[in-house]
Amino acid sequence: MNTVKIIIGSTRPQRFGPQIASWVKGIADEAATANGNTRFELVDLAEVNLPLFDEAIPPMMNQPANEHTKKWAGIVAEADGYIFVTPEYNHSTSAALKNAIDYLIYEWAHKPVAFASYGSQAGGTRAVEHLRAIAGELKLYDLRDQVMISNYWAQLDEKGQFVPTPEQGDAVKAMVEAIMFWTEAMKAPRQKLASQQ
Ligand SMILES: Cc1cc2nc3c(=O)[nH]c(=O)nc-3n(C[C@H](O)[C@H](O)[C@H](O)COP(=O)(O)O)c2cc1C
Repeated sequence: MNTVKIIIGSTRPQRFGPQIASWVKGIADEAATANGNTRFELVDLAEVNLPLFDEAIPPMMNQPANEHTKKWAGIVAEADGYIFVTPEYNHSTSAALKNAIDYLIYEWAHKPVAFASYGSQAGGTRAVEHLRAIAGELKLYDLRDQVMISNYWAQLDEKGQFVPTPEQGDAVKAMVEAIMFWTEAMKAPRQKLASQQ
């Protein structure tokens, strides 16, 4: 069984990120039932509650000292793939997501990552472009299929709930199929590559 963790990349009160993440997870769970080989799990960075990166020894030395680093390393290591749910803050991803990424290196390596982004007109695409560059450095393999929600506030009902279009749902399905495929495909090579870190 493969595990894909859906990481909610914003942490502020009344953020929108959890709505996108829950929507993605709902579609992912349906696809996982049909696939039979993958489980999806939500990870909320607000709950993980990491301080600003505070390890004295850089992660490439693999000697974490702090309990919160070890706990976060365990959460990330358990997964075989990831979906980053990212807002766009000033044409990039959130500080919270970048901070959480920076804590680790080896736990991310040789696993696929897909992106669901949201924002104003550009739908978070600039955040994702930055994340793709960061992924390369961590040997995280970024997938082409992505979900991009522009001006989500125009798609909220009277209760403030996001109402996706069928096309947006199709984009999630394609991304979920891609992450399930590559999670499985990368598993054996990852074990081989682990010795070459
Ligand atoms: C600090 C900050 C910077 C932002 N910069 C951008 C931006 O550059 N591009 C954009 O499309 N939206 C931008 N926005 C709008 C966010 O996309 C929108 O507020 C979104 O709800 C943020 O995600 P969150 O609710 O999960 O925190 C910004 C919002 C904040 C709080």
